[in-house]
Amino acid sequence: MSLIADEWSSAPRAGVGAEPGWKARAWRELCAARARLLGMLAGLPESTLLRQHSPLMSPLIWDVAHVANYEEQWLLRALGAPALTDPAFDRIYDAFQHPRGTRAALPLLPPEDAFAYAARVREAVREHLADGVPERGDTPLLRGGYVFGMVAQHEQQHVETLAATLQLMTEVEYRLPPTSPRPHPGPVPRHEVFIPGGVARLGSEHPWAYDNERPAHTRALSPFFLDAHPVTNGEYRGFVESGGYDDARWWHPEGWDFVQAERLRHPQFWMAQEGSRWLRRRFGQVERLPWDEPVQHVCWYEADAYARWAGKRLPTEAEWERAAHGGDGVARAHPWGDAPPTAGHANLGGDAWGPRPVGSHPEGRSAEGVWGLLGDVWEWTASDFTPYAGFEAFPYREYSEVFFGDGYKVLRGGAWASAPVAVRNGFRNWDFPIRRQIFAGFRCARDGR
Ligand code: AVJ
Ligand code: FE
Repeated sequence: MSLIADEWSSAPRAGVGAEPGWKARAWRELCAARARLLGMLAGLPESTLLRQHSPLMSPLIWDVAHVANYEEQWLLRALGAPALTDPAFDRIYDAFQHPRGTRAALPLLPPEDAFAYAARVREAVREHLADGVPERGDTPLLRGGYVFGMVAQHEQQHVETLAATLQLMTEVEYRLPPTSPRPHPGPVPRHEVFIPGGVARLGSEHPWAYDNERPAHTRALSPFFLDAHPVTNGEYRGFVESGGYDDARWWHPEGWDFVQAERLRHPQFWMAQEGSRWLRRRFGQVERLPWDEPVQHVCWYEADAYARWAGKRLPTEAEWERAAHGGDGVARAHPWGDAPPTAGHANLGGDAWGPRPVGSHPEGRSAEGVWGLLGDVWEWTASDFTPYAGFEAFPYREYSEVFFGDGYKVLRGGAWASAPVAVRNGFRNWDFPIRRQIFAGFRCARDGR
């Protein structure tokens, strides 16, 4: 039976829990994630796939089998299909049993077997989706195709993680595929946008929204100014070259300890050459540092210090989301509206292999004139990762709940490496404030009148 049969792509009908057509979208998203994963790893030697390239990251092949195991658990076993594999896989590929830095020592499936496992699970899902899963299934897992969206987003999140591993890898050079030409948007005004105070609508009602985005709610915000663009390499260079990394005044005390201990002088992957000439390493290549792109590979402490140096601060996640929705009190999926992202809206999906100059995506700006909120770089916010009032873990505590607290900072907006399916105004990412290998930058805010 074909998965794109007409009865599965009928026009959407209003009402949560009845989104006819979700099977076709789910299958498309699963295929898109897999094509990207396989393309990214194609041609890498076995030794490269098995190796621990950084204590911060898993061996590349661990992510492949982990993604397959997750899919087996949620799209086969949880939906009543028979298990395919050895239950031992559940432990080997459980992120909570083994820290990333220890995974190379596990009895991992050899690369060929890991890829075969992923293909076998996917084939069983295809059969089960076609014949066994009711499209109007009204269990919480199936409503709107939730669990399929969850698995597609999970695979894409791991593809982004693989990209971060490939960026860290130095033992072999990762050869980038050809990319489309770099846009030259010309100078863009470096202004701030005034966002009036009032009641902001926050959270997601998207049927595939994660538990941590729910419930949708409102919140009163004071007026503030938000940078129209993320901070660029050129702007960040001003902080670096004026001694920002040597001046404790700008730094959170823990951030100051961190930069001293690690002897940080500039964002990760920047390379200084003869004074003020800067290069960077981007995957396997060394190139001139482009001043007009959003800065990336800075940790939260670096973002926070820059903001203080600039006389500003990081926005809270509520401020960021309010700016993304716009000023008319409507919560939308994207700053430009609910239409799915295209190349004109945002740099997403991974094909650019890096951020694009600020101002490259005029169609993606908000009605109030804030640019680049989605794509290019994740944006650090001032906020700790905490639950919204009324939060309920779903479908498992380990997705979000076990991370809540003051240990993690929230990032918003997605990066060039994030897939559109895993990016929306309400999407919340999080990481430790010392992490730099993720594709993260920031923009600044300050109090309004
Ligand atoms: C939401 C990106 C923080 O990678 O740790 C992947 C996503 N959760 N597998 C992560 C995730 C389970 C998660 N982040
Ligand atoms: Fe995972």
